Amino acid sequence: MPKQCDEIKSNYCFTNSDEKFLLQMRPELESCVDTFLDEFYKFIFKFEQSAEFLNDEKVIARHRGMIRQWYLDLFSGTYDISYFMKLYKIGEVHVRLGLPTHYVNAAFNFVRVFVLGCVQKKYQDDSNLTDRIKAVERIIDINLDVLTCSYREEELSRFLSLSKIEKGLLGFLKKVSSYFNYLLAGALVMVAFFAIGLFGYDVYLLVSGETNIEKGILTTLGSLLILWAAIELINDEMKHLRGGSFALEAFITLAIAALIRKILIYSLSSEHATDVLMYGLLVLCLSVSYRVISIKEKSSKKETH
Ligand code: HEM
Repeated sequence: MPKQCDEIKSNYCFTNSDEKFLLQMRPELESCVDTFLDEFYKFIFKFEQSAEFLNDEKVIARHRGMIRQWYLDLFSGTYDISYFMKLYKIGEVHVRLGLPTHYVNAAFNFVRVFVLGCVQKKYQDDSNLTDRIKAVERIIDINLDVLTCSYREEELSRFLSLSKIEKGLLGFLKKVSSYFNYLLAGALVMVAFFAIGLFGYDVYLLVSGETNIEKGILTTLGSLLILWAAIELINDEMKHLRGGSFALEAFITLAIAALIRKILIYSLSSEHATDVLMYGLLVLCLSVSYRVISIKEKSSKKETH
């Protein structure tokens, strides 16, 4: 860690003069600590799950005391191994609690904006204002780096805890799944071409008079709808290949488009009234599934943040 802590400082170009500037600014920034704390909690309690973590008065009071100390330590002028160990421990506590990294990053953004605002206000006529700002930026970035390092290590340790066979199997499955995904993308392009063929055929039937105008127009519209849904599916598959999540909704959209095409065609004759009703019911069920899946996706995206 001592070597690591020097390396971190040097990578951020954090020098002795930064340490001196921070220590010099301590009295001015100490005078803002209460405002900082009030605004910090106002800010973090806007996060949806904050109240689940800081869930009673005792925990909030304890956290407030610890944040106060952490804020004052930013301007202690001493950034040795024990300072870094403390930061690392804060990160570990947050990881153990399951606090999303996004919350820590957002809270840091608040800290940065607040502290820089104070520095600019208090030192607006100071010839060293730029260096003071640089020193603040560096110490805040170093803090964020060390605090979030535990999150990265947690991810890494999950991977490292796998046995050799498990890692090999994981790598193999990843490769196989990526090949299948390319195969699926190719098949989707083929479907899009078939949809173009279907559209062309519908236009041909309409123009040649083999089908009546009303039916011809509705059928052509239906095949255009399928073509649109197939293109959407290809777009989603491209996102999936770039590392996005699997687009189940796009498949449902395609199925809905195909059913709507059938409804459009059957709706012209009274003989197919039951078919229209059945297809309508299917479209309703698929639309409900679509809605449920998109709500679930949205809430899981929020959780991972
Ligand atoms: C600038 C960002 C933050 C800093 C510097 C910070 C600092 C700290 C510190 C110093 C501790 C005590 C660690 C220990 O026990 O050694 C702690 C614990 C904790 N933090 Fe944070 N924190 C930050 C953001 C947040 C946010 C955004 C939340 C929740 C929304 C949060 C929730 C907690 C909780 C629940 C604990 C455990 C409190 C206890 O039971 O004692 N922290 N944090």
